Amino acid sequence: KRHLISAADLSRDDAVLILDTAEEMARVADRPIKKLPTLRGRTVVNLFFEDSTRTRISFEAAAKRLSADVINFSAKGSSVSKGESLKDTALTLEAMGADAVVIRHHASGAPYRLANSGWIDGAVVNAGDGTHEHPTQALLDAFTMRRRLVGRDAGLGADLAGRRITVVGDILHSRVARSNVHLLHTLGAQVTLVAPPTLVPIGVERWPCEVSYDLDAVLPKSDAVMMLRVQRERMNAAFFPTEREYARRYGLNADRMARMPEHAVVMHPGPMNRGMEITAEVADSDRCTAVEQVANGVSIRMAVLYLLLGGAEPAVSPAARTEE
Ligand code: CP
Repeated sequence: KRHLISAADLSRDDAVLILDTAEEMARVADRPIKKLPTLRGRTVVNLFFEDSTRTRISFEAAAKRLSADVINFSAKGSSVSKGESLKDTALTLEAMGADAVVIRHHASGAPYRLANSGWIDGAVVNAGDGTHEHPTQALLDAFTMRRRLVGRDAGLGADLAGRRITVVGDILHSRVARSNVHLLHTLGAQVTLVAPPTLVPIGVERWPCEVSYDLDAVLPKSDAVMMLRVQRERMNAAFFPTEREYARRYGLNADRMARMPEHAVVMHPGPMNRGMEITAEVADSDRCTAVEQVANGVSIRMAVLYLLLGGAEPAVSPAARTEE
């Protein structure tokens, strides 16, 4: 049985296969008829215990473009609010015949638990678990970087060797940062994290990346700069940085963007706090790939569902697989 729980489970070949398959899927999106019959008769359940705009919608679009049946489950308005457990929710989905469960959960480790519980038979895809990982976000980010920094056709089969990627902001609470650090390292990129000291996780020295506290010094040496949202909902109010002070030291504005090399791009996984980590001028500039990242997310999620449910080649390394 195959799952996608963590970007850290992917080998270089796994990751490149997913990126290349996503390029094939993007070609389908360019056609007048955007649908493939590949997953006809299969059922994909979107199981969302936490809010989402981009991830939920793009998994739904991806599954529908592959002709799968899609069931959208949101914890809000479900029997979860009456105290129903993850196990009983999972058993209910299993009874409905789910071939894949895409899960977002506020608890780090919930997708791993689901994949290894025996409660469900289908593939499990992590759509973001607590502060742990968000592997399809890292894949769509890598896809966007490969297209922008290597090239759309030239990129096929390629990784991101030697590219310098800077990730800025609330690293402590960011599953996006953690997944990106692992995947970008696997793809050969050099990653630098920039954050206030209070928003750097304990143990970061064991991550395969550098850490800096000086954004202005790092910007001229970056091929891509990924800005992260300060996740107030995961913080004690006493630790909220003030907006003005945060923006002054760690926010990306037009003056700072001008320090980046001409070819370098600005990225943001969304949702953005305009005025905090990024100014509206930068967010709306041609150099910002935020909207492109969302579009690329559909191609990546099509590739992941295709490779887990319908493809012939293994998409996920043996480490990511679990046996019953
Ligand atoms: N980037 C991301 O995961 O966005 P959503 O929370 O809207 O899904």
